[in-house]
This record gives sequence, structure tokens and C-alpha cells, in this order.
Amino acid sequence: MSELRSHIRGVGGYLPQHVLTNQDLAAMVETSDDWIRERTGIRERHIAEEGELTSDIAVEASRLALERAGIAPGEVDLIVLATTTPDQTFPATATAVQAKLATGEGAAFDVQAVCSGFLFALATADSMLRQGLFRTALVIGAETFSRIIDWSDRTTCVLFGDGGGAVVMQAEAGAPGAGGGVIAHHVRTDGTKSGLLYVDGGVSSTRTIGHVRMQGNKVFKHAVANISSAVQAILDDNGLGPDDIDWFVPHQANQRILDGVAKKLAIDEDRVISTVAEHGNTSAASIPLALNAAIEDHRVRPGQLILSEAMGGGFSWGASLFRI
Ligand code: UT7
Repeated sequence: MSELRSHIRGVGGYLPQHVLTNQDLAAMVETSDDWIRERTGIRERHIAEEGELTSDIAVEASRLALERAGIAPGEVDLIVLATTTPDQTFPATATAVQAKLATGEGAAFDVQAVCSGFLFALATADSMLRQGLFRTALVIGAETFSRIIDWSDRTTCVLFGDGGGAVVMQAEAGAPGAGGGVIAHHVRTDGTKSGLLYVDGGVSSTRTIGHVRMQGNKVFKHAVANISSAVQAILDDNGLGPDDIDWFVPHQANQRILDGVAKKLAIDEDRVISTVAEHGNTSAASIPLALNAAIEDHRVRPGQLILSEAMGGGFSWGASLFRI
């Protein structure tokens, strides 16, 4: 008897060309490079050009991931795209990606779990591949978060950026319990905390797009607690300790959150991938973008064990364990 398992074949990322620095922001709102770097670790972020859509960003990241995997777009039969900033209210942005890439016959849909979206998308695609519903999946996190930012609100506008990352996964039969591939997921939400981080508009409520609103310091405390509990749970469920993990690839919201979680769980900071300084918080895109960066600079190597974690609006949070 063999069982189906999802294996990661390729990773890609894309950042829009335009870079917005802390100094640029200091000319727009009452803030400073010092404040932003001290409180968040962010130095700069990338902002999409006018007319550059979430699907365009997703397509660029996916092309690179497919090229590195040596897999033709026609082989892809599942696209799961995590985004909070879709091209349109409907259809799903994943269908625009399907059309632009000319992928094979199959299914494409979006997942909405804000900054945790990539982990929810990974868990969804993994489940479908393991069931044998599809064979080759693109799992994407892509955002044009700049479009839902209130650029006069200094408490949020300094935090976010645009970008996208993609992972190609394939189902492969193997011996039950054999190591390798995507191993485990832990995803959770708590709708009672939605008022701490949300967008003040929507199709059904205001018929507008709205802007991001956040009680940052409250979100911060929950982020450290929820991420730590998700990481501990996935380690315990799989009989692992922090030292068994080669690399932690977290959602990139704030360097202080990364440091806080590492300290709480006694994780060696040298094994935490951080791109927050260069990317800012790119919501669902931040994990695959960080993974891509660490593969490109040869820190993350084939066969290594990766633990990803995230927390975002909803609240939603989670962790995933996989071998690259
Ligand atoms: O990815 C989804 C999840 N999101 C997060 O995880 C974000 C979590 N939160 C955070 O990262 C942090 O809470 C922030 C970076 C958003 C804020 O840092 P903080 O240390 O929690 O600051 P604070 O909100 O408590 O504000 C401290 C002070 C306030 O002034 P007063 O009331 O002490 O006079 C703010 O008005 O800093 C002020 N402030 C700023 N000052 C300069 C807030 N934003 C700015 C700014 N520049 N951009």
C-alpha cells in the first residue's frame, strides 16, 4: 500500500519595481525612519504600479516557480491563490492566473485568510492533492495591499507592501509514513477578535473597498501568543523540538514579533528567515516571498525541514511543516 503525499517542486517570488522607503513615508505622514525601524524592523517596501494587478504579480511569481520546477503551465490542474486584495470582487483572482498562464484543465479558486492566507491555501491544496483530486498545484500568496491602505494613517501605512510568492506542489505515491514533502498543518481562527484588525468597507456592508484599520499593540500581543501556540502544537503533534527544524520561515509582520516568538520558544534566531526589512508586511505573500529569498541566497537547501507560521486578521493563524 502506498499513500499520496504532496511534494514541493519549485518556489518563486516577485516584487513590484517601485520601492517606497521610510524616508519617503516621513515626507507623507508624521513618522520617521527611526520610529519605523525601531518598532517594526521595516526599512522599505515594494508598491505595485498603477494597473499592475494582484493576478499579474501572482503570474510572475508562478512563472518563476514553474520554471525552477521544470514543470510546464499545462501540467497545472489546481491553483489555490491566497489574497485579500483580489483583482475583482468576482471571479476569483486565481481564475485570471489560470487564464494568463494557460494552465491545464482543472480548478482555480481564492482563499481569504489575510496574513495567514498562504498557510490556509497550502493546507487546502495539500488535502486535495493527497485525496487524488488533482496532481499538480500552484499555491500562491499575492497581494496589492497598497490599494487598501489609508495613506494618511501613520499607524498602518508604514507597515505594508505589495508582492507575491508561489510554490509548485505535486502529488506522489510513497510508502505510508515516509518522510519528505508536506508533512502537517495547524490552522485556527477566532472571529471574536475581528474588530482589532479589519477593513472598514466591503461589498455587502458599505459597497466600498475600505481601508485597513488596526489596534496594533493589541494585535501584537495576540500575534506572539497565537503563533507560539501554533508552533508548539505542530512540533508536539509531530514529536519534534525547535532544534529539529532547519529553518523557521514566518509571516513577516514585525521583527519584534519574530524575535518575541523565537525567545518564547527558545528558537535559535539564526534559523529564523527575516525579510521584513526589505519587504514590509506583504500579507499572504510574505511566507512564500521569504522562502523564495532564502532559497535564492542558498540558506534553504533541498531536503531541509521548514516550519512556517503566521497570524493575521480574523484572527486567523497557523503553522505548516514541510521538507523543501
Ligand atoms: O500581519 C497581521 C498582523 N499584524 C501585526 O502583527 C501587527 C502587530 N502590531 C505591530 O506590529 C505594532 O503594534 C505596531 C508596529 C503597529 C505599532 O507598534 P507599537 O510599539 O505597538 O506602538 P503603539 O501602537 O503602542 O504606538 C506607540 C506610539 C503612539 O503614540 P502615543 O500614543 O504613545 O503618543 C502612536 O501614536 O507611537 C505612535 N505611532 C507612531 N509614531 C510615529 C504609531 N504609528 C506611528 C508612526 N510613526 N508610524
